[in-house]
Amino acid sequence: MMQKKETVLLPSSEDALIRAGKVVREGGLVAFPTETVYGLGANAFDDNAVARIFEAKGRPQFNPLIVHVADLSCISDFAVVTPLAEKLVKAFMPGPITLVMKRVKNSPVSYLVSAGLDSVAVRMPAHKTAREFIRQAGVAVAAPSANVSGTLSPTTAQHVFDGLNGRIDMIIDDGMSTVGIESTVLDVCGEIPVLLRAGGLATEKIKQITGDLLYPEKDEALPRSPGQMLSHYAPSLPVRLNALKAQEGEALLGFGKSENAVLNLSEKGDTTEAAGNLFAYLRLLDDNKKYKAIAVMPIPTEGLGLGINDRLKRAAYPRRTIGEKR
Ligand code: TXA
Ligand code: MG
Repeated sequence: MMQKKETVLLPSSEDALIRAGKVVREGGLVAFPTETVYGLGANAFDDNAVARIFEAKGRPQFNPLIVHVADLSCISDFAVVTPLAEKLVKAFMPGPITLVMKRVKNSPVSYLVSAGLDSVAVRMPAHKTAREFIRQAGVAVAAPSANVSGTLSPTTAQHVFDGLNGRIDMIIDDGMSTVGIESTVLDVCGEIPVLLRAGGLATEKIKQITGDLLYPEKDEALPRSPGQMLSHYAPSLPVRLNALKAQEGEALLGFGKSENAVLNLSEKGDTTEAAGNLFAYLRLLDDNKKYKAIAVMPIPTEGLGLGINDRLKRAAYPRRTIGEKR
């Protein structure tokens, strides 16, 4: 639920970071400084906390988020570190670079962080306060830039406060972000890195290490960032929207009170809770061999409902032929 109370703005200190870590563990939202821009952090393993990020930012779409870590050894707990990834981690982390890797099987990272994809973006900030905050949280921290969707990324705590006061729990102030633009995002699932977003680490430096770098705009077949794609996740089963009841062979995905739902996105009809469950529940139903289709109950367009409906519409979009890009 949206918060009404004033956001706590604290200068960075050991006490403040301990407090911030506790807020994250309890499912809250904390904006924190990094060398690129300020991030809006939540527990990456907590679906509901992650959903609150989208609510606070007013993000119309569930773009995937970056998982921030304080030490490199935990990356392999949730991502597949390819030899290429390993090389880039060694060369540039901590620093203004984000690596997109495949999720490990049974990854504890919320599927909402991945926006339903099989991949996860990982970054270790060079900023000491950022790392100390993550360490205090004791979990990996999912964080987009700490701005209202569609506005400029924040490079000071005041920017964050101006945009998000009353919508988040806490802001840690540690001066201005020195890099000032977001991290460079690379897909490193294959043998050659693909530039998904130019950013705080120059591509020349990356090429010095990898020799080669691919640009999606030059090749249709390369991966790109989901924000730019019409559809980036759809279950393999057909999806029917605004269903009141399941028909023969369908699994009913509920919202609000329902006796017949196989899974319920939110029994109490809360769109934030529903967003947190959306991708994970679609996958569970999709993987269950019992069903031929997924029927989804109507979801209101208020709050995160708009984003949920946007994603569901894409998931329900009629397929042309199997395997064809939509
Ligand atoms: O510097 C930064 O990267 C800042 C600070 C806070 O770390 N964060 C940031 O987050 O800019 P955000 O949410 O504004 O941008 C994340 C970018 C988006 O372009 C998103 O599409 C891409 O990373 N991304 C995240 N996960 C992805 C994935 N699994 N596959 C492809 N792209 C992904
Ligand atoms: Mg952003």
